[in-house]
Amino acid sequence: MKRQILLLTWCMAFTAMAQVETIRIDLGQKGTVVSPNLYGIFFEEISHAGDGGLYAELIQNRGFEEHVLPSGMTYKDGKAYAPDAMNYEHRRNRNWNIPWNLEEKKMTGWKVAGEKAIVKGEVIETMTPLHKNTPHAMQLNIKKVQKGGKAILTNTGYWGIGLKNGEKYDLRFYVKSANYKGTITARLVNGETGESLGSANFNSQKIKDWTELTATLKAEDSANKGELALEFDKTGTILVDYVSLFPQATFKGRKNGQRADVAQMLVDLHPKFMRWPGGCIVEGATYENRVKWKETLGDPMTRRGEWDLWGYRATWGMGYHEFLQFCEDLQMDAMFVNNAGMSCSVRNGDFVSSNEDMDAVVQDFRDAIDYALADPAKNKWAKMRAESGHPKPFPLKYVEIGNENVGPEYVTHFNYIYNKLKAEYPQITFINTLGHTDPLLAQIPGNYMVDPHWYRDPNFFFANNHLFDDAPRTHDIYVGEYACNGGVGAGNLLAALSEAAFIMGMERNSDVVKMTSYAPLFENENRRDWPCNLIHINSSEVYGRASYYVQQMAAEHRPTYNIYVSEPTTAAPAQPFATGGIGLGSYATQCEYKDISVITSDGKETRYQPSQITAQRGQWKVEGDLLCQTSDERVSLAMLPAVKSNNYTLNLKARKTGGMEGFFIFYSLDDRGRNGYGVNIGGWNNNTTAVQPMRNGRLTDVVSPRVPQRIETDKWYDVRLVVTPMAATLYVDGKEITVAKPAEPTRHFCQTGYDEQTSELIIKVVNGTNQPYRRSFTIDGAKNVMPTGKVITLNGDANDENTFEQPTKLAPRTTLYGKFDKQFDYEFAPMSFTIMRVKVTK
Ligand code: AHR
Repeated sequence: MKRQILLLTWCMAFTAMAQVETIRIDLGQKGTVVSPNLYGIFFEEISHAGDGGLYAELIQNRGFEEHVLPSGMTYKDGKAYAPDAMNYEHRRNRNWNIPWNLEEKKMTGWKVAGEKAIVKGEVIETMTPLHKNTPHAMQLNIKKVQKGGKAILTNTGYWGIGLKNGEKYDLRFYVKSANYKGTITARLVNGETGESLGSANFNSQKIKDWTELTATLKAEDSANKGELALEFDKTGTILVDYVSLFPQATFKGRKNGQRADVAQMLVDLHPKFMRWPGGCIVEGATYENRVKWKETLGDPMTRRGEWDLWGYRATWGMGYHEFLQFCEDLQMDAMFVNNAGMSCSVRNGDFVSSNEDMDAVVQDFRDAIDYALADPAKNKWAKMRAESGHPKPFPLKYVEIGNENVGPEYVTHFNYIYNKLKAEYPQITFINTLGHTDPLLAQIPGNYMVDPHWYRDPNFFFANNHLFDDAPRTHDIYVGEYACNGGVGAGNLLAALSEAAFIMGMERNSDVVKMTSYAPLFENENRRDWPCNLIHINSSEVYGRASYYVQQMAAEHRPTYNIYVSEPTTAAPAQPFATGGIGLGSYATQCEYKDISVITSDGKETRYQPSQITAQRGQWKVEGDLLCQTSDERVSLAMLPAVKSNNYTLNLKARKTGGMEGFFIFYSLDDRGRNGYGVNIGGWNNNTTAVQPMRNGRLTDVVSPRVPQRIETDKWYDVRLVVTPMAATLYVDGKEITVAKPAEPTRHFCQTGYDEQTSELIIKVVNGTNQPYRRSFTIDGAKNVMPTGKVITLNGDANDENTFEQPTKLAPRTTLYGKFDKQFDYEFAPMSFTIMRVKVTK
């Protein structure tokens, strides 16, 4: 309420003020139709988004398989090693490996204790497993139990089991024993107080071979840190496996379904599609480690799961079938992403290439599509779908071939797969993982979408509201992953506002940007594998970050089509390039530098020896008069000593010796080489030269013209960079290539559209500054403007974040504004995203 009053006060105060700049809206100038599918969701098992997140299973490590090595990897001395194979992008073996603590992993989620009893619990590989896919089980050796004593096997869930007073929970577990003849008690426990919250007893007299035990437990109180205890009151050796506890109240009551509160957060986003299963996990750290959708089907007890390259084992409880069912339940289209025959190139990057192997890859795609769409009478995968309770087809509409795969090898793979499938499945839209400006697209004929991704800082997103204005219109674009996640805490308001500005640009260009999804979607508060995630979850609660509300506002106020609005001007004057250091480097490229000298504005020339540099990133060595960068580092950097200026000429010679692209020259660098500018010579797959700001170690937008340029291997280039406070000019072999000018990106954005269903003009404004933003609006082409309309505002302080304590500190508030007219004034709150809905007759 306080905020609403404040907002009205601003607006009233404003009417009395001097004339301000006008933003002109012209209803007569219709822009592009906005894609009805523009806003969707991206799901990946990362940060326990599924297990311990959306998937309602309450038991962690239910099958005792957590410690199992990633498929295809081998264990040695505390590490798991990927197969010795060529990386598809870097064309050499990367010896990829990860630390692997077997013993620690085994007990994930579990503890074993005796109360007046002696018991040893050990996760073992059994000779006669419960199921061949899941060979491990917990073996309890109960040696001694005094009167009234018990051995207890406890699961602590995903950092606590969320129990709700009066709710029912379905328990299912398996035991096997030749000699245990006692009672087994399953108990819900408040882990913080030890209080029992409900129990069920099982008589073990008949147990011999693997026996399934089930019960419904009713929670007698609520607990955030609940536990499930299995108690044994006699001695004996007993195997326990597949312990599962599900709330009965899942989303839509689905068995093996989703957490209702978490799923509701997605419903409230009104998504038009959902992408599954990722993300990098589609590729796998190794090819064998990829997501194999067929292994995600059937009784969850039989699903082997797989080590997830985000660092834990995925149960695949929420598998392909559950994903498709969820899409149907939310009335959204399904987007399935499948491995393209190659693993993640920043990990092992091994791949298949023979026709036989590639045919198997193609068949895997075919089977997945058939599982979702085919006639059960004609196809065995569709028959399986029907047997799993869904004879009718599922809403599968999009299939992405790989994830974030790049380079010529991907071109070959995509062409192979796409060309075999496109005619067979004309109803499917196929998606290519390359970015929309990737020159390799020229080698891939066809009618498919492309999928660029951006994870950057706020400046990038503010600066790139116009990114798609001149994007090629050759392929429809699906911006499959984007998020402002650099220097914004766990995702503050500033991040959300910069995304709002970026989204406006996508909406304006919706003739080509047809679909978008923010990523990643979820994090369990106890596990963050990625800096910023849209929705935060713990055992009992869930909240959306400010970015969540930006997504929701965009989806709820998607216009039918855009209409013309004049560009708001920016006030911020350009600041000169900072006085800072100089650096040399490259992007996934090996190169050599020599004859490095700097002439400062007083005419003094300093020559540098290769040994004088300070290596920051990459592998650098000195060979005679050469400074050599030998690694595949994406953005290597070595700094020259003590050049602190913004007025000099840098001269050097550079030669590429291997790798993907060309050279990097840095200027205006801070002491740690994390902020400044990078002149990217032969960047973007060795096709383009341009200058990029670097913030917090990441290269962001582009502040110079992009110029086509290719760097040859084994050829020396003369490079000269002339830096002045207001311009940095690059010359290669004496020819001027590009000029960068310092610019302050605007933080004010306005985007307008028309909703045909409600006859409303929708005005969206981002004010990303700490000052109020006053503007006058004129609406041309309107017969009538209704004075009263809704204003929806998300605002706060730049650094504000929602938390479990204050889950809606940042959330949109709706007010009524009564002064809309063909001309009206409005003052937008500092740090705000505002949407106005104005009824107009045309
Ligand atoms: O969203 C997190 C990761 O970012 C995805 O797995 C991957 O596709 C991207 O690099």
